[in-house]
Amino acid sequence: MNIVANWSYPTAVKLGRGRIKELADACKTLGLSRPLLVTDRGLASMAITGHALDVLEEAGLGRAIFADVDPNPNENNLEAGIKAYNDGGHDGVVAFGGGSGLDLGKLIAFMAGQTRPVWDFEDIGDWWTRADASKIAPIVAVPTTAGTGSEVGRAGVLTNSATHVKKIIFHPKLLPGVVICDPELTMGMPKAITVGTGMDAFAHCLEAYSSPFYHPMSGGIALEGMRLVKEFLPRAYRDGADLEARTNMMSAAAMGAVAFQKGLGAIHSLSHPIGAVYNTHHGMTNAVVMPPVLRFNRPAIEEKIARAAAYLGIAGGFDGFYDYVLSLRSELGVPENLTAMGIKPDRIDELTAMAMEDPSCGGNPVTMTMENTKALFLACF
Ligand SMILES: NC(=O)c1ccc[n+]([C@@H]2O[C@H](COP(=O)([O-])OP(=O)(O)OC[C@H]3O[C@@H](n4cnc5c(N)ncnc54)[C@H](O)[C@@H]3O)[C@@H](O)[C@H]2O)c1
Ligand SMILES: [Fe+2]
Repeated sequence: MNIVANWSYPTAVKLGRGRIKELADACKTLGLSRPLLVTDRGLASMAITGHALDVLEEAGLGRAIFADVDPNPNENNLEAGIKAYNDGGHDGVVAFGGGSGLDLGKLIAFMAGQTRPVWDFEDIGDWWTRADASKIAPIVAVPTTAGTGSEVGRAGVLTNSATHVKKIIFHPKLLPGVVICDPELTMGMPKAITVGTGMDAFAHCLEAYSSPFYHPMSGGIALEGMRLVKEFLPRAYRDGADLEARTNMMSAAAMGAVAFQKGLGAIHSLSHPIGAVYNTHHGMTNAVVMPPVLRFNRPAIEEKIARAAAYLGIAGGFDGFYDYVLSLRSELGVPENLTAMGIKPDRIDELTAMAMEDPSCGGNPVTMTMENTKALFLACF
């Protein structure tokens, strides 16, 4: 089934196969004449990236690319990107890629005209008001994975390369002005990336749904996002060219990011330090820690999860949902635990301290303490 849609919520989204051909129009809509395409090193040499650059060049917008971007990008990548942006006299960014390319592209557009260091814009209180909003460049976002939802998000994740801590940088204008969700771009993802990113979308929906904050709009979106993952992630995994599955996974990813305005929780507060210290894939790490976190949160979410299970067509309430998560993971080849991911439990105290500092920690339905978080980490091995 070929799904085509134009949405204006939470920003302008153009969804459908082949819509990458509208990239130049998207840039022009935002007034760009010299965009810088930002992506990661791996994507830089792929045909989908070359094609996107062709579309820009044919429309007279040049074919400038910056690809010095690590997975879990850091401030050095950002600094180099800002230099490329300013040296090239660019007037906006095409953020192209998975969460890494998208986040770094968005942050270049945000930071190129600022004078304060990026860490001054961490997602704390109203720190974002410190930014000079008039200097933020327009952003077109083109996701090539279906997971982070960064294309419809108002934040970028940046790892501090000295401390290995992941920080969330927030500004409302980090929300891209136009998003092109072309499922064809995601068809070449390796299976492990399909799984990791898809499970990130599921984790966003699950944690947003479970978080105690009052935000029923996000709760509803999270529930339907989980349903889309349940129906379509195994299909996308089995057959990467399944267009309907790939399209619906792009929707689920965007829904996860819209939903997590309601909050995230322990899955993300554990996975952020693990990713920052061991450079593991973010979404796959979420999938690995998901069952222990569900057990940890059970006293606070049992009834809520039973409601979700009923909606998802899963019998047996919380237990049925838990078993479903286990079977989904094994169907998708997710490592059993952190040990199977190649991680040793020798830095637990450090990881625990980092998890307690993580902003997602406050959205967990069960209050996290040093003691119970350390025990939770141990349960993940
Ligand atoms: N901004 C947010 O709200 C938000 C939310 C969640 C995660 N994140 C961040 O996003 C990052 C993870 O993003 P991700 O999971 O999308 O992975 P990623 O962007 O790091 O990409 C993973 C790998 O997949 C490759 N890849 C991407 N698209 C491909 C394609 N279509 N075909 C073949 N290979 C492809 C990349 O080259 C890379 O090697 C982390 O840094 C995480 O912290 C941000
Ligand atoms: Fe995530």
